[in-house]
Amino acid sequence: MKKLYTLSLTCSREMDCPKEIVMWNYYDHEHLIGTHYKLYDHARVIAEKEDWALVYRSKKTPFLPLWTGGLALQRMEGNVMKTTHQDLIGFLLEMEVKFDDLSNERSRMTVTYKIDVHPIFKIFEFFFKKAFTYWFHATWEEDAPMRLRRWKVHKLGFKDFSGIDYINKKLPKPGKLNYSKYEFKAPVKSFSTINTHDGIERPFASSIEIGYND
Ligand SMILES: [Fe+2]
Repeated sequence: MKKLYTLSLTCSREMDCPKEIVMWNYYDHEHLIGTHYKLYDHARVIAEKEDWALVYRSKKTPFLPLWTGGLALQRMEGNVMKTTHQDLIGFLLEMEVKFDDLSNERSRMTVTYKIDVHPIFKIFEFFFKKAFTYWFHATWEEDAPMRLRRWKVHKLGFKDFSGIDYINKKLPKPGKLNYSKYEFKAPVKSFSTINTHDGIERPFASSIEIGYND
């Protein structure tokens, strides 16, 4: 194999929620075209089994007016999520997310992006780092409110496809709510068509941001 050069970037940020919530977020493929509708316009889960998922996604190329489709295989190895993307040009992007617990039910995620390229592409290192730094923070900002909201409702007793018990029963909020540790188990259950041949398209190209801040 000829000598290749590795373009690499590591970014890290912390969240005020357990790492399992963030894992759920990475495996909730539907949110790509919702939460990240500005960055993704189509998503399809081709196959998934436990924490292995082969996903097609069409995304906006940073800084370029170009939408490109790509395949990604996502899986967990211990507390590291590994995703290998192949884009239209053929580059293999290896992304790793290391999940660490912090005190007070907080977590730190350390994300590394790597692409092996012919040494001639070393001249694009500055662009690579700039593009992926932008991508990391742009997606993080969009994901963070959803993660915090999921953690908040978990502590109120929320269950997927069922909701919050005391609200469903129209009862007043109990004085003290005990909650269990947030468990994450892939795959994330979905009733959409994301697992079909057509996948799912983003529902709109522009929107008024409503957020999850309440
Ligand atoms: Fe996301």
